[in-house]
Amino acid sequence: MPNDTRTLTRADYLSDEIYELERTRIFHGGWMLAARADRLQPGNRTVVELAGESVLLTRDLDGQLHALANVCRHRGARLCDQHTDTGQGSLMCPYHAWTYALDGRLIATPHLDNDDIDKAAFPLWAYHVREWQGFVFVSLAKQPPDFEAWMTLHCSELVALERFGFGGLVVAVTTTCDIEANWKIIVENYQECLHCTRVHPELVELVPVYRTGWVTDHARADGGVTLSHGYSMAATDTSLPILPGIGGIDAQSYFGGTIFPNGFIDVTGTSAIVSTLFPKGPTRTTMTMEFMFAPETIAAPGFDPTPVVEFNELVAAQDNMVCERVQQGVSSLAFTHGVLSPKDDLVINFVQHYLATRGPVV
Ligand code: FES
Ligand SMILES: [Fe+2]
Repeated sequence: MPNDTRTLTRADYLSDEIYELERTRIFHGGWMLAARADRLQPGNRTVVELAGESVLLTRDLDGQLHALANVCRHRGARLCDQHTDTGQGSLMCPYHAWTYALDGRLIATPHLDNDDIDKAAFPLWAYHVREWQGFVFVSLAKQPPDFEAWMTLHCSELVALERFGFGGLVVAVTTTCDIEANWKIIVENYQECLHCTRVHPELVELVPVYRTGWVTDHARADGGVTLSHGYSMAATDTSLPILPGIGGIDAQSYFGGTIFPNGFIDVTGTSAIVSTLFPKGPTRTTMTMEFMFAPETIAAPGFDPTPVVEFNELVAAQDNMVCERVQQGVSSLAFTHGVLSPKDDLVINFVQHYLATRGPVV
């Protein structure tokens, strides 16, 4: 019986109205993957843009993480620029130099007398933040959904890979790219391998089962796919050591999973890669890829992540190109919806999950 399950519609990939719904109900209504925690040593800060909201992530000198609105409480100036990873232990507004502690407390208001402003009444607005296995999740909701329940419902594929010990891994390399495509097109592309033979000749060499068009190996119950050589996502074998505590078939496999709504995790025996999607509107997405290794691997003489980085950059560039083609195609007035086949089963799951989370357009 042919399957005629429909894809999402032109409006789902294009319209400002749907994107606003997603911001309210998914990105800002739930939990978003925001950063890796090892970027935030005590005293550090960084800025992430979570679906149109600039969020300041800090770790105070007591080691506590904070997610704060990147907005000065005086006259509303943007407080910090992007990618300011180190600070002096405080945050000073570039406009009139109001200064905040890393936990958001207002600590200085130059040129004003002490009783002009009640400093205790004007801390930076705070968001909810949680750290799980070294991943920083932020919720912009006033009353966020229960974090554990959210992880179970939306991030079960990441939770299932917890044995790889993500909390002990450290980012060695970060890359960033802009993709002219809706975030859902990027997630959907991640969920199928019907394109692999054509788009990823190097990847199907490394993961032969992808030649079948399936994204998982149905002969295996653990969700992994077997690598044709080595223990890394790389064109050739690398001399990278196996992650601590990982052995047997886990070491020789690749596992992937989504972190709904805005991330992927890719794991092999030697390394893990977390890709984070930062939607910039209905038709644009910035993606960071963070390459994680055991700290002792990074510290060892001769550590070279280049083969892993280059291979994954190649595959990502191939994916980004086809995602942009899809965005161009679905923007046509001719496109109402597409059709999904049985080998798009994970795409179908994603579409259903997305629609259930987003809810109806009224
Ligand atoms: S707006 Fe920030 S100090 Fe005035
Ligand atoms: Fe792909």
